[in-house]
Amino acid sequence: MTDVTVRVPAKVNLLLSVGPPRPDGYHDLVNIFHAISLFDEVTAEPADELTIELTGATTAGVPAGPDNLAARAARLLAGRLGIAPAVRLRIDKQIPVAGGMAGGSADAAAALLACSELWNARPGRDELFALAAELGSDVPFALLGGTAVGVGRGEVLTPLPVSGTFHWVIVTADGGLSTPAVYAECDALRARDPQPMTADVVAAAEAAVRAALAAGDVKELGAALGNDLQPAALALRPSLRRTLQAGVEAGAVAGLVSGSGPSCAFLAESAEHAELLAERLGGAGVARSVHTAHGPVEGAAIRH
Ligand code: C5P
Repeated sequence: MTDVTVRVPAKVNLLLSVGPPRPDGYHDLVNIFHAISLFDEVTAEPADELTIELTGATTAGVPAGPDNLAARAARLLAGRLGIAPAVRLRIDKQIPVAGGMAGGSADAAAALLACSELWNARPGRDELFALAAELGSDVPFALLGGTAVGVGRGEVLTPLPVSGTFHWVIVTADGGLSTPAVYAECDALRARDPQPMTADVVAAAEAAVRAALAAGDVKELGAALGNDLQPAALALRPSLRRTLQAGVEAGAVAGLVSGSGPSCAFLAESAEHAELLAERLGGAGVARSVHTAHGPVEGAAIRH
């Protein structure tokens, strides 16, 4: 048995359409995920017991104990296999933490894949995706990568065709936002100010993003981006308004809060334009860190 390393991408949401709360506490979504070139790496190596080691740029606030989502992934898979989770997981983190970029979900997906390989388990694709969905709504997409629409909790995925590559600037903020808190704020805002939301409106929003992706049209995509969690993220973190405004002033095609935030994603016209935007946003005093990235990229994959 030798070490297995899996590289796994962050995501941004091109469209996040949130339905009313369900009896189980989740929300039905139409969630268009887009995997971008910010990566974590998870290495699984044989050990006497399950341990987590964190390295990399973004480890602050990540649990190094049994609550780490990668540790839960290892325990879940080992439980299914009827073996002990005897693995040391080394997580090299570059994806912003609690930032709305699914970094924890990415690590869970990577750990599932790395442990499957290490333990020579190789579950079938359906089984692997079912285990991923048990771990979290965004974990299946981290396995799949590319660009995909997720319905249900976001875990029922259909890949979407994309022409070419889109270029992004990701601006992170100090301190994370709790995903359940942002969903709860979204419910509270809607209870105070109900907005009629019909299936037609959601279908049209989805169609607009799909058409822009298929055409590879950056202006069209910019006009079609949408995130129902954005008002809630802005209510909980008013400073994000300045971040979004700074993106407009810097010349971004469009900008939005990524998922439940507080990271913001700005669409650029080209790789060069993304570098220029990043430079301007870095000097605008609104960011903890600024990254350029492109998408779509592949999902969790073993590094050979
Ligand atoms: O599935 P996951 O554990 O990543 O979800 C984290 C939290 O986000 C949930 O506990 C829930 O509060 C919220 N959520 C939701 N509806 C979804 C996905 C997540 O309300 N479809």
